[in-house]
Amino acid sequence: MGLFLPQRNVFPFFGLLLFAFGVFFATAGTAQTKYVIGFSQATTTEPWRILFNQELRSEAEKHKNLTLLVRNGQDSVPKQVADMEEFIARKVDAILISPKEADGLTKVVNKAHQAGIPVFVLDRDISNDKYTQFIGGDNKLIGRAAGNYVVARLGGTGKAKGTILEIWGGMKSTPAHDRHNGFWEIISKEPGIQILNKPQDGDWKQDKAYEIAANALEQHPKIDIVYAHNDPMAYGAYLAASDIGREKDIAFIGIDAIPGEGVMWVHEGKLDATFLYKTPGADAIRQALKHLGGEKIEKRLTLPTDTITPANAPTILKHHNLIK
Ligand code: FRU
Repeated sequence: MGLFLPQRNVFPFFGLLLFAFGVFFATAGTAQTKYVIGFSQATTTEPWRILFNQELRSEAEKHKNLTLLVRNGQDSVPKQVADMEEFIARKVDAILISPKEADGLTKVVNKAHQAGIPVFVLDRDISNDKYTQFIGGDNKLIGRAAGNYVVARLGGTGKAKGTILEIWGGMKSTPAHDRHNGFWEIISKEPGIQILNKPQDGDWKQDKAYEIAANALEQHPKIDIVYAHNDPMAYGAYLAASDIGREKDIAFIGIDAIPGEGVMWVHEGKLDATFLYKTPGADAIRQALKHLGGEKIEKRLTLPTDTITPANAPTILKHHNLIK
């Protein structure tokens, strides 16, 4: 008895059967499109990198057909080259890389590209464009925005007057050059503004910037602005100045604007302004999957920026539940 269904129930039964087949084949289809993506991160020392990894991982978790391999280059070019070689040898489906520096990583990025692996270069560029896509902020634009901010802060176009200490990020990396060039494009038009120091490499690090600033403060009794290529270095310079009681005489300007760091420092009055440099983490996963799925993607994806001052910092901090 039990095996035979009454006549009127036959159609729903077949419907169910059809649905089951549908589910089975749909799942089998997904199983065929499983991807392994390797991500070679330059370092995890700055909070910006930690946020970058978090955003990348949380986007990756949304895609059940994706296995993500993450390697930390530990601020070492040979280590990062070895991580890339590992991905090439494993024949991963796509590689994401945020290179420590341009020249030292160009060869291995090109090697992966030539081996037919889609490569996505993130935040810092290499020395040519033999890769699939670049994703990152427009550092020249950010440099110009910082330049315009400084000109306004020092008295306005044509009238601006003051001295600047510039602390470079890693000089072998493209963002440092773009952040300098964009800035210089604006302030070099102002005869009253002067950059006090020769280019000095802070390697994006707070402690190095502290040293650079401490030495400069000894040499120069008057510094109006510190323009550092990222927030940790602007903060390092702030600490050097506050250790000798000169922090109130100087406006410290940085780049990155992550909420718990740069934005909070602006809100606390330690930095004067910072410029948003979004991490490419989530976009990198989305773009790689788009490309692997056969969709067309652009050669460069530029992420937006924003200027953060004491006027808009509280809104951002509230949004992130960092202040009430
Ligand atoms: C982190 C970092 C950021 C900076 C970016 C530039 O390693 O130094 O602070 O904006 O890299 O590539």
